[in-house]
Amino acid sequence: MKRIAPSIFSFLLFLLQIQPTKSYKYNSIFSFGDSYTDTGNLNVYVLSKNLSISVNTEKWPYGQTFFHHPADRFSDGRLILDFLAEEFCLPFVEAYLAKKGCFRQGANFAVAGATALDPTVLKQISLAKPAIVTALNTSLNFQLKWFKELKPSLCHETKECRKYFDRSFFVVGEIGLNDYNNMFVNGLNVTQVHHYVPKVVDTIGNAIKGLIYEGARTLLVPGNVPMGCLPTLLSSESDEQSFYDNRTGCIRRFNMLSRYHNSLLLRAIKQLRVKYPHAKIIYADYYKPLINFVKFPQRYGFTSTPLRVCCGKGGKYNWNSSELCGMPNVSACHDPSRYIFWDGVHLTEAAYHIIFNSWLKGPYAQPPIQDAHLH
Ligand SMILES: *[C@@H]1O[C@H](CO)[C@@H](O)[C@H](O)[C@H]1NC(C)=O
Ligand SMILES: *[C@@H]1O[C@H](CO)[C@@H](O)[C@H](O)[C@H]1NC(C)=O
Ligand SMILES: *[C@@H]1O[C@H](CO)[C@@H](O)[C@H](O)[C@H]1NC(C)=O
Ligand SMILES: *[C@@H]1O[C@H](CO)[C@@H](O)[C@H](O)[C@H]1NC(C)=O
Ligand SMILES: *[C@@H]1O[C@H](CO)[C@@H](O)[C@H](O)[C@H]1NC(C)=O
Ligand SMILES: *[C@@H]1O[C@H](CO)[C@@H](O)[C@H](O)[C@H]1NC(C)=O
Repeated sequence: MKRIAPSIFSFLLFLLQIQPTKSYKYNSIFSFGDSYTDTGNLNVYVLSKNLSISVNTEKWPYGQTFFHHPADRFSDGRLILDFLAEEFCLPFVEAYLAKKGCFRQGANFAVAGATALDPTVLKQISLAKPAIVTALNTSLNFQLKWFKELKPSLCHETKECRKYFDRSFFVVGEIGLNDYNNMFVNGLNVTQVHHYVPKVVDTIGNAIKGLIYEGARTLLVPGNVPMGCLPTLLSSESDEQSFYDNRTGCIRRFNMLSRYHNSLLLRAIKQLRVKYPHAKIIYADYYKPLINFVKFPQRYGFTSTPLRVCCGKGGKYNWNSSELCGMPNVSACHDPSRYIFWDGVHLTEAAYHIIFNSWLKGPYAQPPIQDAHLH
């Protein structure tokens, strides 16, 4: 093997530094997950099944920033997936269920409300009243099935597929939040929900294995957000002071659950890296950047009250389940970029953008997306 002389190597590095521009090798993005990643699948799914679910992302002021119209995204503007596509000089990742055009540059299989666990499994766990999302067949396994259904249109023989997927970037998550939320809605307490975290993480791990088996080589796997900071959960809690972390105002036991999920996910990823050394698996942390936003909002330009949502109405957190963003007479704040939360669960474009940059360049992705690409 020829060795590159150190001086030439430094010169190459120098070139990379003066030209850090868009020279990514990725030609396509495939993504899986829930409403943090969905770019239109829920709307299509609801229509195709004739379900009587009102999807607020079709309503103003969703999409008001950047798109200037509702854009099938649960935010005022772009999601992390959109920033990723822009960074790779690729088009925004098309919702797969919309079946518009060809998907050679990628497809998004994420559906808002999707769970990691299958609806049948969730129904066994939550015997009481099955929440609406458990009735939808959009869980991670269904998303994988859609990917396998699409695959023959992307490549054929092994060699061709290897070449194609070597230049594909996979995003698996965030997913899991809806599993836990469903369990809470169905009356399980945090101790009981803790018990199911390994099952949720196993399901995510199996999805990663499945994708690597299908040809995935680079995967980004985001963990869970600090659930105890979500205005929806905060609004449903009592005022018991001991529930709250006095540095953030978030509910401690929900955040502990998120940290538990993330620690198991990271452990699973480390095992998968050993098992599949030819794959690059990036762990992306949603938890730490979001906690930092809440602790030090001014540092990031979030000059509003951190846990109050931009688009909502009433109550301590400007959030009320009967007056949701997208409903008549519910308006958005004047400047969403000063807010962390857009609605009760989802972030503003401004918050997504900062998190994206921390995944791209570090420190909140292991390894940062940029570095994963260079090796
Ligand atoms: C869709 O559902 C509505 C009522 O929910 C019903 O009136 C209509 O016939 C259904 N359409 C189809 C195509 O099933
Ligand atoms: C989901 O799948 C189950 C089992 O195949 C089926 O009974 C149910 O009607 C499906 N739900 C929807 C919304 O398609
Ligand atoms: C959670 O529920 C279980 C089963 O009902 C019960 O034994 C346990 O004490 C509860 N834990 C908390 C913290 O409420
Ligand atoms: C915050 O709570 C911790 C215990 O959870 C306590 O030790 C500390 O004094 C509290 N700080 C403030 C500023 O209330
Ligand atoms: C939420 O909105 C409904 C309908 O406007 C109202 O009746 C209720 O009091 C509100 N709840 C809170 C906590 O503000
Ligand atoms: C919206 O607000 C207007 C004026 O306050 C009121 O007349 C109308 O009934 C409200 N609409 C809804 C759906 O609450």
